Amino acid sequence: MIKAHAIRIDQHGGADRLQLKEINIESPASQEVLVRNTSIGVNYADIYEREGDHGGPHSARKMPITLGRTAAGIVQSTGAAVAGLKPGDRVGYIAPDSYATHTLVSASRVVKIPDHVADDVVGGYLLRGLTAEYLLCRLYPVSERSTVLVHAAAGGMGLLLGQWSARLGARVIGTVGSQAKAEMALQHGYDAVINYSTENFVTRVLELTDGRGADVIYDGVGKATFRGSLDCVKPRGMVISYGTASGNVGEFDLQLLHSKSIIVTRPTLRSWISDPDELAQAARAFFDVLASGTVKTPIGARLPLAEAATAHRQLESRQLSAPVVLVP
Ligand SMILES: NC(=O)c1ccc[n+]([C@@H]2O[C@H](COP(=O)([O-])OP(=O)(O)OC[C@H]3O[C@@H](n4cnc5c(N)ncnc54)[C@H](OP(=O)(O)O)[C@@H]3O)[C@@H](O)[C@H]2O)c1
Repeated sequence: MIKAHAIRIDQHGGADRLQLKEINIESPASQEVLVRNTSIGVNYADIYEREGDHGGPHSARKMPITLGRTAAGIVQSTGAAVAGLKPGDRVGYIAPDSYATHTLVSASRVVKIPDHVADDVVGGYLLRGLTAEYLLCRLYPVSERSTVLVHAAAGGMGLLLGQWSARLGARVIGTVGSQAKAEMALQHGYDAVINYSTENFVTRVLELTDGRGADVIYDGVGKATFRGSLDCVKPRGMVISYGTASGNVGEFDLQLLHSKSIIVTRPTLRSWISDPDELAQAARAFFDVLASGTVKTPIGARLPLAEAATAHRQLESRQLSAPVVLVP
């Protein structure tokens, strides 16, 4: 057993619920590894868990809980049945309890990090990169024939989706909430950017596509944009409601899809990296894209682990235009 520090909550609520606590961590079970975290990702899913929004794939856990779903780190020790990982390996993982100096992780959720990828890139982008991989390559195969619309284009997901779509040859349109974010998106793969706080994005997308609409829409904003997304997707196009930064979409009339034969899906990363092989393949694809040099991965802020609440407030208040990472 070791002593570690973790950001925990003992009840759901706002960012002020986050507390730095000393915890005990047991030795790894047979299929686990103990990781010393070096760069911890802050994702919207952490805010949903903090608030207690369990409408998605993450069910409620018994309090108190350590927040966080991803980090980069160094393997400290391994369980007896773990093969292919050893102390000293640089790794990234998608697994609970990452807001901590040390985390016990199932070996099945761990990937080795290639030398060309920095720890902060893994902390800030591994979860988002694996998400971009299934969204762009498997759920809807984006190609040079695609016109893609991405909401919140300068956010953590938006920066990756724009650049990766451009790499696949697509024409990429983004929406953002401010002029500064528009400039950020234009520097990261977007051909055209719409400020949806001052312009009607439906009208602009239809103008930009000669009335046809986008082939595929990546909507991570949810409540504020979903209905508009249905109005500016092309006939037989796909609206991928992959996130809910502005709130849940809620109930809607299925008949809204009828006149254009629209395909709507509400996917989650968990079911697209459902086993170690899928995780390894998705990670390889993401690391290969990074190695190509065509996708930049800026970090919006690096904060000490103890300042996790500040990171949450920044993400929720739409201040950030690139991921924040926590450093133990
Ligand atoms: N389904 C999956 O597999 C999966 C995986 C990863 C992430 N996600 C989801 O993808 C979404 C984006 O994740 P992220 O962590 O990369 O966040 P992010 O895009 O860095 O931040 C969210 C962005 O949403 C926009 N936004 C619009 N209305 C908002 C509101 N009322 N409150 C807050 N933000 C608002 C803001 O951009 P503007 O100011 O430009 O509007 C903000 O920057 C989240 O909903 C997340 O849960 C889903």
